[in-house]
Amino acid sequence: MRVSDLIHLVARLADVVLSRRLTPLEQAEVAPYLQFPMERDMFWGQPRADQRHGLEAARFVAAGCPGRHELIRAALLHDTGKRHARLGPVGRSWAVLRRAAGLAPTPRIASYLDHGKLGADELATAGAKPLVVAYTRHHHGERPDGIRPEDWDVLQDADRAFLAGPPSLANRSQRPRLARLPPYDGVSERVRGAP
Ligand SMILES: [Fe+2]
Ligand SMILES: [Fe+2]
Repeated sequence: MRVSDLIHLVARLADVVLSRRLTPLEQAEVAPYLQFPMERDMFWGQPRADQRHGLEAARFVAAGCPGRHELIRAALLHDTGKRHARLGPVGRSWAVLRRAAGLAPTPRIASYLDHGKLGADELATAGAKPLVVAYTRHHHGERPDGIRPEDWDVLQDADRAFLAGPPSLANRSQRPRLARLPPYDGVSERVRGAP
């Protein structure tokens, strides 16, 4: 495991431990972007740290692409498959370390490491757009043909934006303060037929 991977791991651990529950205002901000009952179950069934990670990633995308609702939804929902493993911060770190050491995963760890596929399969069943499903499935791998390079870069930047650097409180306080998600009526992008 590289030093940068270790820093990433520790930063993510700090994120999970220190994340605040979404406020009622933030819950109302997210709600219009959850279009199907299964999506709502998936998002709100996550631990608070994953809910906040999804919201922060979605805000990051919205800051650069405010009209790209499916892109914002992809950022919001991409890690929802993690909830199946029910692993806390220590278990998650252990899962990553075991994988780095080449040890065979336990069923829970396998579920955690496979969270992209698990979430994508659920989103496909829910009726989510191909972009949302594809990003969720591939976000820890290579860009699939169905996602344009510029869209992929924005989503990857959003996923990593809050994990860079040492996990000190000072660093956390220097994170960019992103604006709230733009209002969404749930239909505009679908009507336009944009990806
Ligand atoms: Fe992930
Ligand atoms: Fe993520």
